[in-house]
Amino acid sequence: MTIEIPSELIVVLRNARHVAFLTGAGVSAESGIPTFRDALTGLWENFDAEQLASADAFRRDRELVWGWYEWRRMKVLKAEPNAAHCTISTIASKVPHVDVVTQNVDDLHERAGSENVVHLHGRLDHPICFACRRLHELSLGIPEEPEGGRRLAPPRCEYCGGYVRPGVVWFGESVPESEWKVAVDACRKCDVLFTVGTSSIVQPAASLPVIAARGRAMVVQINLGPTSLDGIAQFNLVGQAGVIIPALFDAVWGPSK
Ligand code: APR
Repeated sequence: MTIEIPSELIVVLRNARHVAFLTGAGVSAESGIPTFRDALTGLWENFDAEQLASADAFRRDRELVWGWYEWRRMKVLKAEPNAAHCTISTIASKVPHVDVVTQNVDDLHERAGSENVVHLHGRLDHPICFACRRLHELSLGIPEEPEGGRRLAPPRCEYCGGYVRPGVVWFGESVPESEWKVAVDACRKCDVLFTVGTSSIVQPAASLPVIAARGRAMVVQINLGPTSLDGIAQFNLVGQAGVIIPALFDAVWGPSK
């Protein structure tokens, strides 16, 4: 299948000094990481995200919540970056300044070689104490499958003895201020903002393309289907990120291999 890359986008990218990416769960889907909604199937089909991704949920049933996040962390540890992550990293060798802002809590952008990745929603591998918020060091290696299906007791904080919680931003919590500032700055200053594999419904991340479009950036969406961003993006490239981003690279800079 040939992928049509608009010629105006090719010209803008060849001359771009600053490109930003805002990525969501769809960028990791081809690595086998279920998107946030897909994650609630199989073992987890009788739960909804808000039952698991909130401080109240953790207070109510910390073994259930910790078990869910360890199951997800285990999936990430076994996964590899895909062509979308790798090509985003290679684009940094073609454009003077590239920012990667992700809503994902995995580390696949980093493992593909991207530097200074901004995690708006935290990281699975950076758990913190629920009480004193100090970082907790996880033991190396792939964690066990949560026993009996899903429940797993969280470790205790080595400083205060509190329970350790996932280092992610839960429903009802704020996005970290320093990460947010970098993301807004990138959207205000970039020549092109790509939003990749995000449903663009979760705030405040969903407002970033609007900020970019109000500024000087060309906004380009890459997604399997339509989202509420369709009317804001100048170009909507429909398909898998792991196919479209390499095709885009080849069209702009020539074959990457
Ligand atoms: N290529 C491109 N897009 C894809 C692919 C793919 N291979 N696979 C899925 N998508 C798209 C889907 O069409 C969907 O629009 O990725 C999007 C995934 O949407 P969500 O699961 O809602 O993920 P995201 O937008 O990252 O969610 C944002 O919501 O629940 C919270 O904190 C959680 O960070 C998460 C946030």
